[in-house]
Amino acid sequence: MSTTILIGAQWGDEGKGKIIDVLTERADWVVRAQGGNNAGHTVEIGAEKFVLHLVPSGILTSGKRCVIGNGVVLDPVALVEEIRGVEARGIAVAGRLFISDRAHVVFPYHCMLDAQGEARRAKGDQIGTTQRGIGPAYADKAARFGLRMGDLVDPEFPVLLKSRVEEKNRVLAAMGAPVVAYDEVLAATRQALATLRPLVCDTVPLLHAAVERGERILFEGAQGIMLDLDFGTYPFVTSSSAGSGGACTGSGVPPNRMDRVVGVLKAYTTRVGEGPFPTELNDAAGEDLRRLGREFGATTGRPRRCGWFDAVVARHAVMTCGVDEWALTKLDVLDTLATLNICTAYELDGRRIAHFPANVREVARCRPVYEELPGWQASTRQVARFADLPENAKRYIARLEQVTGVPVGILSLGPRREQTLILNEDA
Ligand code: GDP
Ligand code: IMO
Ligand code: MG
Repeated sequence: MSTTILIGAQWGDEGKGKIIDVLTERADWVVRAQGGNNAGHTVEIGAEKFVLHLVPSGILTSGKRCVIGNGVVLDPVALVEEIRGVEARGIAVAGRLFISDRAHVVFPYHCMLDAQGEARRAKGDQIGTTQRGIGPAYADKAARFGLRMGDLVDPEFPVLLKSRVEEKNRVLAAMGAPVVAYDEVLAATRQALATLRPLVCDTVPLLHAAVERGERILFEGAQGIMLDLDFGTYPFVTSSSAGSGGACTGSGVPPNRMDRVVGVLKAYTTRVGEGPFPTELNDAAGEDLRRLGREFGATTGRPRRCGWFDAVVARHAVMTCGVDEWALTKLDVLDTLATLNICTAYELDGRRIAHFPANVREVARCRPVYEELPGWQASTRQVARFADLPENAKRYIARLEQVTGVPVGILSLGPRREQTLILNEDA
């Protein structure tokens, strides 16, 4: 398989960074195609722990090349800081990271508008964004008012920036918010560009040539399908296409060149930020999952909301993304639990439904229909062969496969590389 799209099948933080790291060994390129530094992808290698936000996780494997595609929104100052951070830990970036000249730029006014937008929403309407300026940057892209990485290296850049800053300052001032200083934004961007300029190029022909040569490309999805702008719990979503389609539009590699979709699926469910979450546990069981799974945001440190596995969500991912196989993560987190619940359908206003409603007010009224399964109450963290898993763990996996209609191809039993079973060796 030469091109693989990896997506998050829930509300983000499924363990995409870890699975990308494992699959990078079988890839030549790792490509980010949407989102920005709202993402936080954790990779643990031996005693070292990396959290990547904009740089593709493939950078941690020597010799692999990485692309930040046109669909990403990129904060240049944050990116330089991240590059410096990985370089300081002995990872070479020069010559291995390519940034699309079509990627839109996140400026400080986007971050300020993100914070203002949240503060001005009524309680209950707040999204709980990461405040990284993501929504306002994508809004400018759609409004055809954004600036792209290619604009930054253009001699016209100061003029282009000035008109944007003036307009955004009018908006900020009308909100009674502090404005941004044009000179400071220009200076900070130029400073970041000193590092980034050599990395900026047209990544479309670069990836096209790689595909033509039969090189293996791994698309590193960010967020998850339930945060997708179209298919997620709108408006409690991010502003990009987090499903498999986003890999095409965000990279310029067309759909008929994509071979496989891997959905990363946590063995239970988490969500960070606001919005409906049918299987959420607001009790001691939810706290147990948070503690056992160390469920705190990799970007913002916020505690993640936790709940049981939701097959309605997983099937929504299958339908909208065409998932060929699951990478099932964090099964080990369930090791000590006596019983487990799987949500197979919802009850909505007295009716049983098997699909995820579009309307968030309906989603908020959905009551999960659970099936109870026995736990295995044994450690799976050292298990090296599928056959050696406790019988009840195998039963749990088999049931997830049945209710989602998709096989588990990769099983993750801990945060480290070696805590992974590749079940589909053809992959
Ligand atoms: P991402 O955004 O999808 O890359 O996920 P995050 O990095 O935000 O969150 C996943 C967390 O779970 C990280 O702390 C990982 O190190 C950790 N993790 C990933 N896979 C496993 C696993 O199979 N078991 C356990 N216990 N932790 C895991
Ligand atoms: P990774 O790639 C989990 C959530 C935010 C908020 C909503 C909108 O690590 O899985 P935004 O800042 O994008 O406008 O916030 O989306 N969110 C994530 N939640 N994982 C992520 O990324 C997320 N990126 C954004 O918490 O609810
Ligand atoms: Mg994350």
